[in-house]
Amino acid sequence: ARKCSLSGKWANDLGSNMTIEDVNENGEFYGTYDTAVADYPQNIKESPLLGFRQNRARKPTFGFTVRWKFSESTTVFVGQCFTDRSGKEVLKTTWLQRFPIENTDDDWKATRASSNFYTRLRTEEE
Ligand code: BTN
Repeated sequence: ARKCSLSGKWANDLGSNMTIEDVNENGEFYGTYDTAVADYPQNIKESPLLGFRQNRARKPTFGFTVRWKFSESTTVFVGQCFTDRSGKEVLKTTWLQRFPIENTDDDWKATRASSNFYTRLRTEEE
């Protein structure tokens, strides 16, 4: 089977979109993230992501961070790229999101965790 590629446009189960640019020879990549949901959705702005992908496996693991431009939170994703028998790719990810708090007494509520999966976004211009 072909190696699963991270580059391109993806959509997740929440309706968020991300674009990942070419992965370089060191497994480094960057892109942009357009989330469908946020604590203050009226503020949503496309935000940068930066990550690493492992090189050897046909189903590579990867991780990236999103630095939200419209919120003081930070989200990190870890995941793996899979290809099904028909050649359809899917990214299975788990994420942690840290929210800033004023006081360490609030540390207990500062982190969220969940999962997302992504499939390739096909747009008309592609
Ligand atoms: C914020 O509201 O502080 C920033 C937006 C966070 C969006 C989260 S990141 C994890 C989850 N997956 C998505 O595609 N969007 C939400």
